Amino acid sequence: MATSDYGLVIGMMMAIFLASFVSADPDLLQDVCVADLASGAKMNGFACKSNISSDDFFFAGLAKPALTNNTFGATVTSASVQQINGLNTLGVSMARIDYAPGGINPPHTHPRATEIVFVLEGELDVGFITTENKLFSKTIKVGEIFTFPRGLIHYQLNSGKVPAAVIVGFNSQLPGTQRVANALFASSPTVEDVVLTKTFQVGTKEVEKIKSRLAPKK
Ligand SMILES: *[C@@H]1O[C@H](CO)[C@@H](O)[C@H](O)[C@H]1NC(C)=O
Ligand SMILES: *[C@@H]1O[C@H](CO)[C@@H](O)[C@H](O)[C@H]1NC(C)=O
Repeated sequence: MATSDYGLVIGMMMAIFLASFVSADPDLLQDVCVADLASGAKMNGFACKSNISSDDFFFAGLAKPALTNNTFGATVTSASVQQINGLNTLGVSMARIDYAPGGINPPHTHPRATEIVFVLEGELDVGFITTENKLFSKTIKVGEIFTFPRGLIHYQLNSGKVPAAVIVGFNSQLPGTQRVANALFASSPTVEDVVLTKTFQVGTKEVEKIKSRLAPKK
């Protein structure tokens, strides 16, 4: 190998080494550790089940579109460790999102995962916002892909006249989802109005209106 090749190899090893520090989920220490969701053990992830089968690695829940007749006109169907127990410790998961025409998956973040979406049908306006408040947005259609970096606020809107759907990949077994509007206006107990009136520079009436609209349906 020429000296420059060694430099390249060392550079690649450094990159892999550094990547291992920014990866979302910890690395695995055994072939499989199928989640025992019923275990009372408190740990990072889930305890391993002893009697496992092929079904622990299987899920058919993304095969069909979900109903989208809800407030936002969009439904996320998760395929995380909670549905596929075999994903425990593997650092990946998926989801499917269906959108009615005009439907939105409102601004939210995944604290533990980068997300990559593949458009199955329809067309979506998507975007994410960096910590410097720069928006990166695009219209994506069937067969196209867009990426939302870990932790950044992002959204998808079906601006088309037909239903849309995407398949999603995450580099975490349980990415977690925090919806910005719901976190601030529909938490339990609720964030006091003064925090929101000062934050959004509006009156109590506006805050109360948003709170009532987003309140969890009883
Ligand atoms: C393991 O699970 C299967 C069904 O999933 C069951 O038939 C079998 O008895 C179980 N074995 C043990 C040792 O618990
Ligand atoms: C959505 O549609 C389904 C089937 O058409 C119906 O059973 C359900 O009640 C509807 N949900 C809402 C929130 O309207």
